[in-house]
Parts: sequence; C-alpha cells; structure tokens
Amino acid sequence: MNRRDLLQSTLALTALTAYRDSVSQGASALNERSAAATGEFPAGFLWGAATAAYQVEGAWNEDGKGESVWDRFAHTAGKVQNGDTGDVACDSYHRYGDDIALLKKLNLKSYRYSIAWPRIQPNGRGAANAKGLDYYKRLTDAVLEAGIRPIPTLYHWDLPQTLEDAGGWPNRDTAERFAEYAQIVAHALSDRVAQWTIFNEPKTFTGVGYWIGVHAPGRREPLQFLRATHTVNLAQGMAFRALKAARSSVEVGSAFDVAPMFPATNSYADIAAAERWHKFQNLWFVHTALHGRYPDGALQPDQQATLLGFRDGDGEIMRAALDFIGLNYYSPWIVRHSAQGNGIPGLDLEGSWADAPGHQPVTDIGWEIFPEGFYDIVTRMSRETGNLPIEITENGASYNTAPDARGEVHDSKRIAYLRSHLQELSRAIHDGARVRAYHCWSLMDNFEWAYGYTQRFGLAHVDFAGSQKRTIKDSGQWYAQVAAANRVV
Ligand code: FCB
Repeated sequence: MNRRDLLQSTLALTALTAYRDSVSQGASALNERSAAATGEFPAGFLWGAATAAYQVEGAWNEDGKGESVWDRFAHTAGKVQNGDTGDVACDSYHRYGDDIALLKKLNLKSYRYSIAWPRIQPNGRGAANAKGLDYYKRLTDAVLEAGIRPIPTLYHWDLPQTLEDAGGWPNRDTAERFAEYAQIVAHALSDRVAQWTIFNEPKTFTGVGYWIGVHAPGRREPLQFLRATHTVNLAQGMAFRALKAARSSVEVGSAFDVAPMFPATNSYADIAAAERWHKFQNLWFVHTALHGRYPDGALQPDQQATLLGFRDGDGEIMRAALDFIGLNYYSPWIVRHSAQGNGIPGLDLEGSWADAPGHQPVTDIGWEIFPEGFYDIVTRMSRETGNLPIEITENGASYNTAPDARGEVHDSKRIAYLRSHLQELSRAIHDGARVRAYHCWSLMDNFEWAYGYTQRFGLAHVDFAGSQKRTIKDSGQWYAQVAAANRVV
C-alpha cells in the first residue's frame, strides 16, 4: 500500500490522529493547523540558498588542504556512484565569484556555505593553514560586499582523514580537536560573521557514516555510532563556547535534520516506536544542547555510560544555549516497532524513509514528497525548543531535468515542490513558529554524496562535464520572484 492510501485507511487515520494528539500535548496555542494558506512571510524574512564545501569547492588538494574522509571515501572504488568524486565538483574554490553573482541574480540575502576543516588544519590538529583561512576570508568578504548575510557551517561532514585514522567521531578526543578548530575559525572570521551554524545534520553523518556505512567513513558499527553521537554532542557544546568567546554577540545554532515520525499502524508498539524515534532522530543533538541531558526515556540511565561513554560532567560540556535552531527538512518517516531490534540495545525500532517501496509521490532521488510534514515538524520543533528562532537551513528537491535545445531548464516539478513546502512554512509561521530564514538546497547542482553527480538539487544547472557554466533554471527564476515579493507567487 502506498503512503497516501495508508493515510486514507481508517487504521492509519487513527494512527495519524494519535500522532497529532501527541504532537499537540501541552501546546494549546499552536495545535490547530491554521486554515489560512496566505503564502506570506514576515517583514525582514531572509531568503537564501545553501551549499557545502565538499559538494561544491573542488580543489581537493590545493593550497595545503589535507585529505578528508570524503576524499578518501570517494577515491575508494565502489563507494560513490559512477566513481564520482568531489575533486573538482563545481570548482567553487576558484569560481565563488560566479556563485555570489548567482545569489544576487536570485535576489537572495543569505548564503549558507560550509568551511572545510582540512583546509584549516590539514591533519585536524595544530597550527592553522593560512591559505585555507584566506580562502574563507575572501569568500565571506565577497558575500558581504554583495549585501548578502553569510551563515557558515563549521562542519558539513569533511573530517580530516588523520582524525578518522585516530578513531574518528567515536573517539572522544575528536571533540577536543573540533573545539580547537572552532577556536581558530572563530578568531579568523568572527569580525565578519554574525551567525554561525556548528554542525550540519549530526544524525546523518554519525548514522550514515558509522552505523549504515554508506557515507564516509563507511563503517558499520552500531555501538561506535552511538559513541560518535556523544562525542558530537560534547563537541557542539565546546564549539559553541569557542564561538562565543571570540565575540560574545555572535548568534550560534546547528542545522538538524528533522522529520515527522508516523507510526506504520495504530498499534501501541508502533506509536511508541515513533515517539522513541522522534527523540532519537529529532532531539538527540538539540535537547542535549538546550538541557544538558539526553531526551527522557530514550536510553535507560545505566545505558548512558555503557553505550555512550557518558562521564560525570558531560551534561555541562554538551549544554549550549543555542540562539536559533537550524532545521533541514526533506521527507517524513514511517516507523514500525521491530521485535528483533536493530543492533542497538534499547532502540527496538525500524524507521523507513521515503525509500520505502511504493510510497508516492517521490522526487528523482526517491524521497517522498509530503509538504504537510514540513508544517508538522517545524511547529513541533518550535514547541519542543521553547519557541526559539528557527532558520530553515535546507529544503529542496532533486529533479534531473536536462537543459532543452536552447539550454533552458524547465523544472516545473521543483517549482511545485518548493511552492507547496513554502505554503506550509508560511502556515507554520502564522501559527506561531518563529521562522526567520529559508535556505533552498541548493544554490546549484553539486556532488550529492554517495549518489555522486546523478542527483541534481540546484536552482541553477551546472555543466559538470564542460564549462562549469551555471544556468538559472525555471525554479531559480520563480524563487527569485518569491524572494523579491516576500511571498509565495
Ligand atoms: C542533506 C545534506 C545536504 C544535501 C541534501 C540533499 O541531507 O545536508 O548536504 O546532500 O541532503
């Protein structure tokens, strides 16, 4: 049964009602989904686009840059589709001026990009590589000169390979290394950057990298994955303090990948599993920052020490009063209880994302399209983080529409995806979520991790095979109008 049929069945409607009830507990002001779909956004709302260093920069071994886990992974046969690598990508290391010109043409006022740790510290420790820092100074200055707000991310998955060789994120020492890196970057750039994002999708790079193994470094070690999550939580708190120490007025957040969790049936076991999965997938790195402890009921207290390596005092280390919450949303999850477990003690659940067979409709990467889920998760995260300001740090769709004979890209499906999601976002704001920015993933087509160049998420088409020319797609033209009008058009 596909998900839409599922949602229409009485059984699933019961599950959905249970889900919505649980969502609305204690949130009387916000629990009615507003009927008004005005598509309007508040004055001063920031329209932007996002990229990430490994996905766009190229220049993988230039100017003293060290090897990252993604360099190693992509250079290993069989890891990335077609043997694609980020060696050249969009060549943004040399063509960032083109990227900024593109942002301007799209009327965008916020650019989310990331800093490659191995450009700053080629081996993940010690003195800074001046050429690496210079690159990000030049880039940031050019963004500012264009009248665009820079919002760099400290870590979008490219760990220095030397640190992986020393154990990677499961090794607690990596948190210390990250804090040192954060301090270097903060001192170099805090005079020009007012908003920072620490991590991009901590759940994804720990889970897909150390548990599922299809992202770098490609390990399949469930217990090491849990350790990795704890190191990342410690590192997040430490980096937060490093950024604030460099300039106390900077605003610091992280970009969390979130999804509404739908129980597969209305059985108690599935509903309970969906709630556990919510804590584990959506709150694991934000609740810890805001409260200095893991979400209640996600792990038994004695499991914290054995599974996470939690030590006395760790609560204070991971605590960070984030100024805003970054949210990445693509698709909902369907969760079912799994009696046989999933390799992680105490987490007896299975989650299926949009790649569950039969779910419709999907984008070209196979991820289910469910705009209402955007509303659900934005309002829920808003409530569960004390109504902090929210920035949508990523949302978008892969459609591989090719240029026509005139070189134009008529990607009407991406327009439909963005329009429906922005309507839901506008509704969420109307219903009380303090969302202040939206970044489309992505400014341009780029290296899509294990999919290589087979999935195009860009508002602009990139000619990877030839000139590297960026061509604004129909969706880019449309998004430029939205940004100018500050409403869905
Ligand atoms: C997110 C990643 C981003 C990009 C999009 C499609 O999970 O943060 O780098 O790959 O998915």
